[in-house]
Amino acid sequence: MAHLFEELTLRSLSFPNRIAVSPMCQYACEDGLVNDWHLVHLGSRAVGGAGIVFVEASAVLPEGRISPQDVGLWNDTQIDPLARIVEFIHEQGCLAGIQLAHAGRKASTRRPWDGDGVVPEDEGGWWNVFAPSALRFAENYPMPREMTEADIRTVVGAFAAAAGRALTAGFDVVEVHAAHGYLLHEFLSPLSNQRTDAYGGPLDRRMRAPLNVIEAVRRVWPERLPLFLRISATDWADGGWDLDQSIELVKLAAHLGVDLVDCSSGGNVAAAQIPVGPGYQTAFAERIREATGVPTGAVGMIVDPAQADHVIRSGQADMVFLARELLRDPYWPLRAARALGAEAPWPAQYLRAGPHGALRRHPVGT
Ligand SMILES: Cc1cc2nc3c(=O)[nH]c(=O)nc-3n(C[C@H](O)[C@H](O)[C@H](O)COP(=O)(O)O)c2cc1C
Repeated sequence: MAHLFEELTLRSLSFPNRIAVSPMCQYACEDGLVNDWHLVHLGSRAVGGAGIVFVEASAVLPEGRISPQDVGLWNDTQIDPLARIVEFIHEQGCLAGIQLAHAGRKASTRRPWDGDGVVPEDEGGWWNVFAPSALRFAENYPMPREMTEADIRTVVGAFAAAAGRALTAGFDVVEVHAAHGYLLHEFLSPLSNQRTDAYGGPLDRRMRAPLNVIEAVRRVWPERLPLFLRISATDWADGGWDLDQSIELVKLAAHLGVDLVDCSSGGNVAAAQIPVGPGYQTAFAERIREATGVPTGAVGMIVDPAQADHVIRSGQADMVFLARELLRDPYWPLRAARALGAEAPWPAQYLRAGPHGALRRHPVGT
């Protein structure tokens, strides 16, 4: 029976444990370039013992950023600063992943601590906000223009090009972001996609653009490395995207080479009522894994080591993605190992504080 600290192999990659640092926007870039903040933020979570650290939603085109401060991977100058972080993460015995994203109709908005709403052009925002249909997410969001088929082809190409840059930077895993009401999720949901062409209408057409992206990314991403997909398993809204449609999507995505589905929810309907609570999305990971046989990741209010271990032991998911709990405590994986009686390698520099700390040989103060 697998447990939280058991290795996982996907393709030719071995994950040292089942704990992933979920992608988390830091809104700390200029021109999409990562900097020392990202090195310390991501690096400390690698030191803390996670199996894989994901870089936040990284925009494949400049107009695909949520805010002007997002990470970007739309040009080659963005590769080297990411490569420096990947190298540090690898030095800690941890894997490095990056989430590739396009914000669609939720682009050009303020970072959370700068208030709400659209960022005007003179503050670094942009007018070119587009989506499957010209439907606003909410009142204080931009009104998107409907994408042309040429726009869709551009976005598909941009995802593939960004995956190529991620490979050059040394990443082990790419995750395609098709959740939380961003562009690819907007195509999936009938509430945000009201197109009447080949990319809208029945389920197979709503899935077309996201599947084209997966196919294009997989063509660039090497056979030996796993590809992840993050979805919102439901819109939590009548007439919206739901679990049954997610299962159909995952079957096709797996056929195109997706190796793990990271099961989140919501984000596409501003007024949705979401029953948030401990492990509130775990059932989606379990159901999708069961129905498709595809490995899944569970995310959402997983905070306790026994709870996380249970998700893995009971076969609900193959990996747990933690976000806020790892902001509270980057060393959560090391603490969890101790709580569960599992072995986890401590950094040599920290050994004296670890479970086998040699305090007698090296008294405090030396
Ligand atoms: C500060 C912050 C930034 C986030 N940024 C992203 C992101 O870039 N991409 C993404 O898919 N989810 C993002 N999320 C959502 C998390 O990855 C995660 O799915 C969510 O917080 C639920 O997990 P938790 O209860 O462990 O925090 C973010 C969450 C937080 C708290």
